[in-house]
Amino acid sequence: MAMEKIAKLEDIPEGTMQHVEVGLEDVAIYHTSDGVYATSDVCTHASEQLSRGRLDGCIVACPKHGGKFDVRTGAAVAFPCVIPLQTFPVEIRDGMVYVDVD
Ligand code: FES
Repeated sequence: MAMEKIAKLEDIPEGTMQHVEVGLEDVAIYHTSDGVYATSDVCTHASEQLSRGRLDGCIVACPKHGGKFDVRTGAAVAFPCVIPLQTFPVEIRDGMVYVDVD
């Protein structure tokens, strides 16, 4: 599948994140000072929705047990999370955010 238009960039201010559904995927979009990133919105520890947690720079903290991931790579960076998140390619075109979940 190709890139899908999923949001206006202005609706996701820097320092915030947003949940979107793309096809059958629950996706979290993060607008960081490093750029815009997308990962699965399902914590790999116990399936909590990460976009309900806290974004600190490029690190998202899960609201359930406080595990953390680097949103740029999906890497688990704080216990109890050890399995990385799936990441998805992101493009910004004409103020719109596009994501490819395939
Ligand atoms: S469900 Fe996310 S850290 Fe446990």
